[in-house]
Amino acid sequence: MLRIVVLVSGGGTNLQAIIDSMAAGKITNTEIVGVISNNKTVKSLERAKNAGIPAVSVSPKDFENRDIFNDALLDAVNEFKPDLVVLAGFLVAIPPKMVAQYSNRIINIHPSLIPSFCGVGYYGLKVHERVLERGAKVTGATVHFVNEGMDEGPIISQKAVCVEDGDTPEVLQRRVMEQAEWILLPQAIDDIANGRISVVENKVVKKI
Ligand code: GRF
Repeated sequence: MLRIVVLVSGGGTNLQAIIDSMAAGKITNTEIVGVISNNKTVKSLERAKNAGIPAVSVSPKDFENRDIFNDALLDAVNEFKPDLVVLAGFLVAIPPKMVAQYSNRIINIHPSLIPSFCGVGYYGLKVHERVLERGAKVTGATVHFVNEGMDEGPIISQKAVCVEDGDTPEVLQRRVMEQAEWILLPQAIDDIANGRISVVENKVVKKI
């Protein structure tokens, strides 16, 4: 049974997709042992509570500096003894110590087709604003392992989504969530939980 802890920052729609996929049997051999948010009052904590999942918030505002927060975040993750850490709309940089301790055991959902529209400053709605500004016709989402870089870890899966004429950033974000994020992240968790994913020379290999 794969023990996963899910880190969230906002609405928690990706967390909800995981919860719903487990209930529907699309994710097997997996247990969400905890949810951690860097915000106290967010819908994602409510989603965890409604699903009976232990949830805590660890907010940078509650610590005198970033190093102390980083240690508190890692302690909170370790408390749940996870096999896999899932970043589901988590908008805080992962401490290097945590990346080292959970090498190739942290995954992230990014709302673009990496290596496009990613890296510093590309998160949430900003990603979709840049996609529209550039006039891209196709965007999408990527699930990848987290390494010491920003959105640079081995890519697990990607799914393309069409950009439509007249799209606003909000409309495009919703389409990318519905057509890509909420499909890719549960699928990646199920693949990892059932031993179908390995990393060879920094590239993901998927066993069919
Ligand atoms: C989504 O755009 C996700 O791709 C990004 O954060 C946003 C909110 O995700 N990482 P959620 O609704 O909190 O899961």
